[in-house]
Amino acid sequence: MTEAELYSVYKGVFVPKVLHPPECLKYYEEFTFRPDDILIVTYPKSGTTWMQEIVPVIQSEGDFTPIDTIPNWDRVPWLEEHRANILNLEQRPSPRIFATHFHYNMMPESYRKVKPRVLYVLRNPKDIFTSSYHYYGMASFLVNPGTVDEFLEKFIDGKIMFGSWFDHVKGWIGAKESDNICSIFYEEMIRDLQGSVSKLASFLGKSLSQDIVAKIADRCVFKSMKQNKMSNYSLVPTEFFDQQKSAFLRKGTSGDWVNTMSPAQSERFDAAYKEKMKGVNFKFDWD
Ligand code: A3P
Repeated sequence: MTEAELYSVYKGVFVPKVLHPPECLKYYEEFTFRPDDILIVTYPKSGTTWMQEIVPVIQSEGDFTPIDTIPNWDRVPWLEEHRANILNLEQRPSPRIFATHFHYNMMPESYRKVKPRVLYVLRNPKDIFTSSYHYYGMASFLVNPGTVDEFLEKFIDGKIMFGSWFDHVKGWIGAKESDNICSIFYEEMIRDLQGSVSKLASFLGKSLSQDIVAKIADRCVFKSMKQNKMSNYSLVPTEFFDQQKSAFLRKGTSGDWVNTMSPAQSERFDAAYKEKMKGVNFKFDWD
């Protein structure tokens, strides 16, 4: 199926029609934040599911009940998603935890007034590209990626769901100083998960003992999440996610792009990156 058949255009970016019907986008636009809300912001395939595992157990101070009993999409729902308007998110007790894939300039009016706490996750775009390539091949609501060359051009041009990775990152890292944002790299989490849990906990105002931090980090490693049916998407019917083609929790490593991109494709990506990120003054983990 084509982009025209599967996607609608919302504020200039493609969104899968089945996941983001107009009434949900309207709900998102009118959503009212609270100052103590926690918002996990990611470009898709940056580590959203990982954060949906870690943040609730930081909040519960190492009690694993949320990740043992609640699917990740209900535990930390996306505000723009198809069930957001029926989940009674307004009634959830504080501090509420949400996710969004939207760009900074697409945030609802209430976000700008209230400035809830944001955890912004960044990941090497070549690994995001690679993870996306496999994901687009297994999710029925997304356009088949075609060849790596074809998908690479779409990725560079932002002609995929949630638009351009480059614009997403530039928008969020360029947010106002008055915004309440903690940026974290996927690669940093791979290198030092305990340190990352401590960093996130301290931003969220949680004082956790080293034992609890270690317990959380141990429980949130890839191997353990892969076995957690509340987080590995095995509850989603095969007609949506065909995990025989590619697992949702696929490899969970950094640098896997070398197994999908040829040297020529990597050079093509680097040239586009140089052009699109010109003038950006930010220390990226992959630089
Ligand atoms: P790969 O496809 O490279 O394996 P998102 O949740 O934003 O869609 O991102 C999915 C990516 O995050 C997948 O990358 C997935 O394996 C990875 N991921 C999820 N949980 C992880 C964990 N505990 N450790 C490392 N990577 C994880």
